[in-house]
Amino acid sequence: MLCASVVVFSIVICGSWSAEELKFPPSFMFGAASAAYQVEGAWNASDKGVSIWDKLLHDHPELVLDGTNGDVACDSYHQWRRDIEMCEELGLNMYRFSISWPRLLPSGFPNYISEDGKNYYNNLIDGLLEKGIQPLVTIYHFDLPQYLQDLGGWANPLVADWFQDYAEVVFSLYADRVKYWLTINEPMGICDGGYGKYSAPYFDDPEVGRYLCNKNVLLAHAKAYRIYEKLYKDQYHGKISLSTLFFWFKPFTPEDQEVTDLTIEHWEGRYAHAIYSKEGGWPPKLEKLLNDLAKKEGYKYPRLPPFTPEEVELVKGTYDYYALNHYTTRLVRRVKPGELPGKWFFDGSYEIGTIMFKDPLWDTTVADWFALYPEGLREQLHWLNSTYDLKEIVITENGVPSLDPGLVDTQRLEYYRDYLEQVLLAIQDGINVTGYNAWTLMDNFEWMGGYITKYGLYAVDFTCPNRTRTPRESARYFSAVTQSRMIRPTQGKTKLNYV
Ligand code: BGC
Repeated sequence: MLCASVVVFSIVICGSWSAEELKFPPSFMFGAASAAYQVEGAWNASDKGVSIWDKLLHDHPELVLDGTNGDVACDSYHQWRRDIEMCEELGLNMYRFSISWPRLLPSGFPNYISEDGKNYYNNLIDGLLEKGIQPLVTIYHFDLPQYLQDLGGWANPLVADWFQDYAEVVFSLYADRVKYWLTINEPMGICDGGYGKYSAPYFDDPEVGRYLCNKNVLLAHAKAYRIYEKLYKDQYHGKISLSTLFFWFKPFTPEDQEVTDLTIEHWEGRYAHAIYSKEGGWPPKLEKLLNDLAKKEGYKYPRLPPFTPEEVELVKGTYDYYALNHYTTRLVRRVKPGELPGKWFFDGSYEIGTIMFKDPLWDTTVADWFALYPEGLREQLHWLNSTYDLKEIVITENGVPSLDPGLVDTQRLEYYRDYLEQVLLAIQDGINVTGYNAWTLMDNFEWMGGYITKYGLYAVDFTCPNRTRTPRESARYFSAVTQSRMIRPTQGKTKLNYV
């Protein structure tokens, strides 16, 4: 039995584990994450170009829960010093933020680099490093320059070159100081969301555009990776990956295992197999299922655009670590005869013929699709570790939504405690998880959830011109964890054996 109090935040650590078992390895990196459109604001400051989110939400405010947009957001474009201070208060080793493509390259192309855009990120990177905090830089987090969208966006194969050119500028400016990179955040949000009426550009094209995007995003990532490998790796030894949004999935009954495996391939394999598997390319079973379906539907071309042998080689192995965004776990079952599959991609797949839902035994949150099942994170880490050849895994997002703007966020505190416990257990199982980034540093513009949906360790007063940030209980807990590098194990639970 261990009982120790962490003086600064007066949080009591109690449990039946030994002190050593509660500890994260000394090199483990704690971080928090954000994204440009969600925090920066200053949507038209200086020479910044227009992004697809600027355009979509200026034209269609009704798409967002509270009719708002990211025009001002947390005003991090001006409040970045406070953001760094918060990272310091939290005791972070790492801060994950993204670069806005249209802020740095207003036209989308490197014909012109914005001086103010360049300086903004220079200041942020230097400010973090001065405090000993590693920047983890996402090159692209959903905010494509609108001009490139007008030229076809992620459905145009040329986008892979456009992204490579942009990434090359980013590396040339910041690779001397940034050691952790993500090329692209959550291709699933870009393609399945962007072509599934869920996020910008808000197209309704789930059968063609979605899959063209799927392939182009992988090529874009690979081209950016190869440029870094060729020009900067030997000199700066940075690590690059792309982050996948990957809910964990479990079969409802043993008979649902096959559709669950396909669901995992649909969510994960479509964006990961080409990069992390030994053979590269699309996951074979899923490829067959989707392409047979396209034929049945009368399409002349396969759903998953084929890779040439050169493209397979280009993409394969373009990672130095695996970057996982994990939020929740869903149960999966095959539809019964005559039953309709889930309509939204969080609810099932008409292509596989499934319904996804939450186990009634799992606690719930303000979002009906978001159940609490911390063990799912450990199970998923095991799946990743045994499916791919991974040297290192970094959790690049993990967090929970709420609607309460207040500072007492017990569910979030417990979420962090319980999910971090699973990370620790996975490390003790021998999986090399080297970092964990909470989503998110502060309340921000939560896409279609506007400012109503909160994920922040810090609450932000959006009525105040300087967007005052105040730590929540969860922030105090998180700081206690980063200070002590220990977690408090879940009361009444013993260690779970992984099965
Ligand atoms: C995205 C974030 C988003 C978070 C919560 C992640 O999938 O990367 O931008 O705010 O989910 O919805």
